[in-house]
Amino acid sequence: KTIDDLGDLRGKRVLVRSDFNVPLDGTTITDDGRIRAALPTLSALLEAGARVVVTAHLGRPKGAPEEKYSLAPVAARLSELLGQPVPLAQDVVGDSAKATVAALEDGQIALLENIRFDARETSKDDAVRGELADELAALADAFVSDGFGVVHRKQASVYDVAQRRPHAAGSLVLAEVQALRKAVEDPERPYVVVLGGSKVSDKLGVIANLLTKADKLLIGGGMVFTFLKAQGHEVGSSLLEEDQVEAVKGYLAQADESGVEIVLPVDIVAADSFAADAPHETVGADAIPAGKIGLDIGPRSGDLFREAILSAKTIAWNGPMGVFEFPAFAEGTRAVAQALVDTDGFSIVGGGDSAAAVRKLGFDEAGFGHISTGGGASLELLEGKTLPGIAVLED
Ligand code: 3PG
Repeated sequence: KTIDDLGDLRGKRVLVRSDFNVPLDGTTITDDGRIRAALPTLSALLEAGARVVVTAHLGRPKGAPEEKYSLAPVAARLSELLGQPVPLAQDVVGDSAKATVAALEDGQIALLENIRFDARETSKDDAVRGELADELAALADAFVSDGFGVVHRKQASVYDVAQRRPHAAGSLVLAEVQALRKAVEDPERPYVVVLGGSKVSDKLGVIANLLTKADKLLIGGGMVFTFLKAQGHEVGSSLLEEDQVEAVKGYLAQADESGVEIVLPVDIVAADSFAADAPHETVGADAIPAGKIGLDIGPRSGDLFREAILSAKTIAWNGPMGVFEFPAFAEGTRAVAQALVDTDGFSIVGGGDSAAAVRKLGFDEAGFGHISTGGGASLELLEGKTLPGIAVLED
């Protein structure tokens, strides 16, 4: 169901779950992509005359208020972007929240304080989450789920509250699910997936599923060294997950059997230490010197990955190729992003880090087919899992 299915919203209190889990430096938001992605739904509701109450989380506070996780910076930024005041309630569902909601007039918006300041939000106990969901539902006449980044969480403000009020998916959740499901269920082929990021252990489920779906898997980022080790190469002091080497050997064998091509880098930018200004050189992926740390894929690998991406009809990318925060080690990530812009295929950028990398490296978001706001959520969709926050909307 979409917002249109909720009928006339003038004067109705609409609770919106957004994902405002943005990176902060102190109280400065360093990437407001998730806030901007929430604007279409919020603006549509405000234009329809709804009284909009937004709930969201920031970070992982331990079920009690913590100053550094306050949504105050988000309320300020949201207010700037919407061009109207966004008062922040001082609590989640308490007296301040009730008073803030009661004060709303048609076409006005307020934000509730970090939902994870209430320990019931993330409880594993259905009854405990249900209590909080009842209190949230009491603040609203309808519920709109638009925090795509959090739909893989079975939490009170994502899942349980939807069962208590007429509900709909917001336009962000709709667009995300449509783009990602197409890649997962019915990709135009060749379907190439580029996986990066630091840990293989975070991506085991995705790799297993992709070995039955993708035509090619290009591997970069810190996890590449566990693959190189599984092939019998030394990786110096690079990031290595020894306990995953056997699992990776299994994947390499499975890929051979199923005809999925796993493409690994042929060269690596190896540095003396993990630092922005560390001396570095490009070496063969099978010749990383002892003591050196691989911090990026090399230029020949960038070309190899580019070629694969340009010949694909669908490309999904999750995880940077190197330590892109350091300019000297951003070229591999830049090469992949540029290839995704240049390809005629449909490109999907998934995962908070890759989306942040694309923006930090100065790419125009319009050059990509779809940039996901979800980290774990987009990975779980690529894994083929059912996400509770989506399933509850489809019930
Ligand atoms: C994210 O940043 O991926 C989402 O906001 C979910 O956050 P979480 O992993 O703390 O649930």
